[in-house]
Amino acid sequence: MATLESAFQELFGHRAQVLAEAPGRVNLIGEHIDYSEGFVLPFAIADRSYAAIARNNDGLVRIASQQRKNRIFTIDIKDVKPGSAGEWEKYVLGVIWTLEISSGVDILVDGHVPSGAGLSSSAALECSVAVGLNALFSLDKSLEDLARATQKAENDYVGMPCGIMDQSVSLMGREGSALLLDCRDLTTESVPFDVASQGLELLIIDTQAHHALVDGGYAERRASCEAVAAKFSIPSMRNLTMEVLDSRRSEITEVEYIRARHAVTEIARVKDAVAALKASDFTTLGRLINESHISLRDDYTVSCPELDAAVDASLATGALGSRMVGGGFGGSAIALIKADQIDAVKEAIKKSYSEKGFKAPRFFTSLPSAGASARLLH
Ligand code: GLA
Repeated sequence: MATLESAFQELFGHRAQVLAEAPGRVNLIGEHIDYSEGFVLPFAIADRSYAAIARNNDGLVRIASQQRKNRIFTIDIKDVKPGSAGEWEKYVLGVIWTLEISSGVDILVDGHVPSGAGLSSSAALECSVAVGLNALFSLDKSLEDLARATQKAENDYVGMPCGIMDQSVSLMGREGSALLLDCRDLTTESVPFDVASQGLELLIIDTQAHHALVDGGYAERRASCEAVAAKFSIPSMRNLTMEVLDSRRSEITEVEYIRARHAVTEIARVKDAVAALKASDFTTLGRLINESHISLRDDYTVSCPELDAAVDASLATGALGSRMVGGGFGGSAIALIKADQIDAVKEAIKKSYSEKGFKAPRFFTSLPSAGASARLLH
């Protein structure tokens, strides 16, 4: 962090007043149900995004990144509203906008969550800036407030209709635990996730694939669930059961039916996964992870050949469970494996990718880590 502080001073000619950080995430189970008011079970990873921030007296917002050193994006604070200029800077501007900051600020960010890997580098960026501004301006916002504000930034400023999972876990994650999050009211429960003591490891496989469907495909899935809720006059998929869905099948389209089936069954799988984790039953957890992937692949159709190949190769090499994580159409998969099989699983995935002519995958592991934090300086 000392280097970010000195880089800030060199770049802006004055000292940073707050240093903040926020992690990326993986999701054990509960995919594409946060916007349907479901339950999710993600954990914060060790990789994080950092932000150094200070007020300025110029009425300007200046944003720079350690990853793109030759650019300082500058905008009048009065012009910070949806539709403004900005590329990746919109994630930062959106947070300034939703937190209704009216003073000029200088912000230098340093992102260490691999981008494009489905590990929520954008939520990490948003949340690092949010906790930093919250501390700097004594906004006194709760973590739930900040989760809603950062989601709004992404929905209304960046234009991505994401749910609230990524921002919530980046803010509320706890070391050693997965976060059971009820996306209806943002209540949480820490569920210890200690794979190492069981001789297990959670391997994260970045497929390095990024398919064009990402944006439109996500919005289309969300719209299908909302259409079913509207036709059935219920608030969300959370209020649906398989019995009701089957009995009213003729009222919705076939695509809507399979999208809703994913949502209903996935919410049930999260509850079962929590029970399995509490009982240290990793065999059942693995089975639920596999069922989640099949549902995402066949009913929600958000997987892709690279994700399926990673899952298939992991399972063929003895993984207890494996599935795609995040929005899909690329990004990462996870595999719950015996720790001593990690090299064999990696080799099997690499071999499968090279045979299929896919770009080589990248591998990560991470223990569940703490959520965002900020430290005032001087
Ligand atoms: C993306 C979104 C999240 C969530 C996942 C799918 O990561 O940002 O809100 O919907 O996809 O579970």
